[in-house]
Amino acid sequence: MMTAATYDTSDIKNIGLADEGRRRTAWAERSMPVLRQLRERFAKERPLAGKRLAACLHVTTETANLAVALQAGGADVALCASNPLSTQDDVAAHLVRDHGIKVFAIKGEDHATYYEHIRAALAHRPDITMDDGADLVGALHMIALNRLDDLAPPIRTWVETLSAADRKALVTGVAGSTEETTTGVIRLKAMAQDGVLQFPVIAVNDSLTKHLFDNRYGTGQSTLDGIIRATNLLVAGSTVVVAGYGWCGRGFALRARGAGANVLVTEIDPMKALEAQMDGYRVVPMAEAAPQGDLFVTLTGNVAVIRVEHMRAMKDGAILANSGHFNVEIDLDSLKQAARGPVAVREFVDEWQLDGKKLFVLADGRLINLAAAEGHPASVMDMSFANQALAAEYVVQEGKTLSRDVHRIPEALDKEIARLKLKAMGVAIDTLTPAQRKYLASWDLGT
Ligand SMILES: NC(=O)c1ccc[n+]([C@@H]2O[C@H](COP(=O)([O-])OP(=O)(O)OC[C@H]3O[C@@H](n4cnc5c(N)ncnc54)[C@H](O)[C@@H]3O)[C@@H](O)[C@H]2O)c1
Repeated sequence: MMTAATYDTSDIKNIGLADEGRRRTAWAERSMPVLRQLRERFAKERPLAGKRLAACLHVTTETANLAVALQAGGADVALCASNPLSTQDDVAAHLVRDHGIKVFAIKGEDHATYYEHIRAALAHRPDITMDDGADLVGALHMIALNRLDDLAPPIRTWVETLSAADRKALVTGVAGSTEETTTGVIRLKAMAQDGVLQFPVIAVNDSLTKHLFDNRYGTGQSTLDGIIRATNLLVAGSTVVVAGYGWCGRGFALRARGAGANVLVTEIDPMKALEAQMDGYRVVPMAEAAPQGDLFVTLTGNVAVIRVEHMRAMKDGAILANSGHFNVEIDLDSLKQAARGPVAVREFVDEWQLDGKKLFVLADGRLINLAAAEGHPASVMDMSFANQALAAEYVVQEGKTLSRDVHRIPEALDKEIARLKLKAMGVAIDTLTPAQRKYLASWDLGT
């Protein structure tokens, strides 16, 4: 057993911001009817009673509503940030003051503090972990595999103070985990493929009620929102280059076009490229898009998608932003070597001088929708976080029987979330007649 000394309290910016956080969280709650119903059921049934849950998520109003629902289900929740720039400090204060939830997150925290906060969430000794980008699970696996040199210093220093038995208990104590985003799921599937995954993981991102809506409509709208808030750019008539035509990319391309932009798409997957072309966008390689774009947005989950050779070809005044999970999609390290800067010209806008031209990079290449805007609208997070809450319950119910692999929540639960969302929106649909049911189940009825 670990000692009480390893058990932390909160680390947030300012508890005095709690009133504003409470007001804003209540506003988001109005748009989260599915999660509300789950919270009410959880409060009665207490499916997470006695479970310690560590969540590494963007600390936003929607996440606050999820944390409260998990707590209503009986979980003892600790929350840390999944990105140094996405924390809403008022929300963190509200959760600590009004719900007694442990929160380790400060907007703009440096690299060391970010990992110190992940360490604090791990020190909660979770039975269940909840990730957005697999940082908690990643750290737990470095501990399990004794790869301490691969841990960030604040975590490594702490782990070195733990006995071998404590380290083992930290990992074996986890019954299962849930993962919110595409990038995290890719990492986890790679771990399962390598045979190193230590517990089952529920890929919330793989639920249809998650990626079809959150990634597409949530990222689409909030990415445009973040860019406009950061720059006050007139989108109409501009040329916008969208890197990646997955769920996020197509959502953003749709909204950019809706705002009047000429949209170019870059892809590496022929199927996605074909879809983009037939959806009416012009598909070109990045080298061809570079001299044409006024605004470049990466949504790929890949590394160095925009490189210095592309930046050299860009127009004076071009704006670069990322909405993929990590800040690796725009090659800022190489830009730093090749260019002069940065000069902060507005909040979230850095000016770089390259070959006599000015380029503007938004939010250090971090998720622009969470850095400069508020992340996704609550209505779409309602479904994502209903999936998270059900996934946590599923881990408690089925964790012991699930293999050490990446799983989806059962299709029936996914459909149930869609049904509840439609009901809350006041949308009715038809049901199969007996004749239709029979027809669909038969193979011998033809013309
Ligand atoms: N901003 C947000 O709030 C938010 C929300 C959800 C997901 N995400 C993140 O956004 C990223 C994309 O997620 P998704 O669900 O759209 O993934 P996805 O797998 O559906 O789409 C990614 C697309 O990028 C393409 N791609 C990969 N490398 C490329 C390259 N070099 N050039 C051009 N295209 C390339 C892939 O072929 C694919 O079509 C992930 O990192 C995910 O975690 C962000």
